[in-house]
Amino acid sequence: MTDPQLVLTERVQQALATAFGPEYMGADPLIRPSQFADFQANVALSLAKRLRRAPREVAQAIADALGAAGAGDAFSKIEVSGPGFLNITLNDDWIAEQARLTLQDPRSGVGRSTPPQTVVIDYSAPNAAKEMHVGHLRTTIVGDSLARIQHHLGNRVIRQNHLGDWGTQFGMLIEHLLDIGEANALARLESGETNEYYQEARAKFDADPAFKERSRRRVGTLQSEDPETLRLWHLFMDATIRYFNRVYSLLGVTLTDADIAGESMYNPMLAETCDDLEAAGVAVMSEGALCVFPPGFKGSDDKPLPLIIRKSDGGYGYATTDMTAIRYRVRDLKADRILYVVGADQALHFQMVFAAARQAGWLPDEASAEHIQIGMMLGADGRRFRTRSGESVKLTDLLEEAVERASAAIAERGYDEATRAEIARTVGIGAVKYADLSVSHDSEYIFDFDRMLAFTGNTGPYMQYATARIRSIFRKGGVDPSEVSGPIILGEQAERDLALQLLGFGTVVENAAATAEPHRVCAYLYETASAFTTFYEKCPVLKDDVDPATRTSRLALCALALHVLQSGLNLLGVPVPDRM
Ligand code: ARG
Repeated sequence: MTDPQLVLTERVQQALATAFGPEYMGADPLIRPSQFADFQANVALSLAKRLRRAPREVAQAIADALGAAGAGDAFSKIEVSGPGFLNITLNDDWIAEQARLTLQDPRSGVGRSTPPQTVVIDYSAPNAAKEMHVGHLRTTIVGDSLARIQHHLGNRVIRQNHLGDWGTQFGMLIEHLLDIGEANALARLESGETNEYYQEARAKFDADPAFKERSRRRVGTLQSEDPETLRLWHLFMDATIRYFNRVYSLLGVTLTDADIAGESMYNPMLAETCDDLEAAGVAVMSEGALCVFPPGFKGSDDKPLPLIIRKSDGGYGYATTDMTAIRYRVRDLKADRILYVVGADQALHFQMVFAAARQAGWLPDEASAEHIQIGMMLGADGRRFRTRSGESVKLTDLLEEAVERASAAIAERGYDEATRAEIARTVGIGAVKYADLSVSHDSEYIFDFDRMLAFTGNTGPYMQYATARIRSIFRKGGVDPSEVSGPIILGEQAERDLALQLLGFGTVVENAAATAEPHRVCAYLYETASAFTTFYEKCPVLKDDVDPATRTSRLALCALALHVLQSGLNLLGVPVPDRM
């Protein structure tokens, strides 16, 4: 264990046990970064009441126990301050040694979950019969980062792409396919014209009674699994999925066809869901519909709010599918934790599904279900993101535009055509992804190419540039970063600051996993890149007058910074160019 915050937590807990008895071992030491030292422990303030002693006295007793335990190897100073804070300064040699050990660690200080959990992540989930819009871009990017982080911690990750691939709208979509011709329809779907296609079908449905009637009948033959209708449905879906896959491959996300678990998959199980909920007394008939009334949910009229499991016409809905899916994920996939990375506007739906599933015993206490709310993507005008003509934006066009803009931004740098195209792709896509990840996932977010493509600030290009710059130090010095190993000596303040910053990577990744907040990784990487910049300004690495021991030490710090930045960006799914 090399992360100071974890080491401190453990040592202070031991000191608590020594000073006050073993029952205090489990108290949270409340370690925080401090203005006056490296860290402060605030536990004395919270324990004072329980111990019936003055906070400063409690703090002093902890300090004495820490000192007596020979903590001197890690800490150079432990001071009681203010109302009862414990200010802790780390020993330079200890930091240097931990940094050296972290450099040797292929995981750069990131631990593993013990025991590993099974984490089901429901993300991306575009609707085949409507449009794949920028909101789906964000759930795809955030969900994929969560999957990478969980996987890196050694958890068993099961991706579930809950496609909207079933429902009554398929009646008109299939009839429209027959009207305009299979080949033509499939080509258009595959090229991403799904939204126009939907709108055309919708317009005919509203205007043409004969089309409406055909569509109705088609819903019936789809539900009764008529082979020809199923064939057409498969054609429609396959073409649509080919388009989704183009977006996924442009984005470089880890989703594959094996992760598709769309609404249609649950169709054969929906009747059983209703029967079981009814037999268990969890669902009841109300005004002809089968409903669950999870406790605590009330409508504006103060009446209990229903989660409708079967409509009065006998049809199933979104909630039926989600009840079926949650049962499947716990019972069959053995999920310990389920993350639903879905728009914030569906918050009530998920709260009710989770509560109903608890009521039914389908979501036991040991398992958690969490809605990772995705805030809406806004245009520069602060309204829902659209093109200038008011249509929704085709995602492949949006991503291509990011790449073109990145290409223009690096035009002056004199790369040959192929290199420039490769860098532009990495920078353009990286910028879009990083922008989505760097703000907290539930806040609304303004899509702004200029801001996301800026080479300064907490942006993708800045982070990519920071890693490229470190790599160029190694290229210039003729040194392979995987072959440096220290020892590390911390002479300058900037060296100490950088080393301490780099030791915090493991804690940040674990926190990001626990809270399902990738933006914590972004914030940390940005601080790290800034600490590196200060270090690099103050501490020359390759200059002739740098003595060999200092050069070795500084190269080791550069190598550790490179590992941490690269693996951090990898956890975000942000690609890293070799040079920039
Ligand atoms: N297809 C839905 C939409 O676009 C999202 C599905 C999310 N997952 C779920 N299990 N409901 O709004």
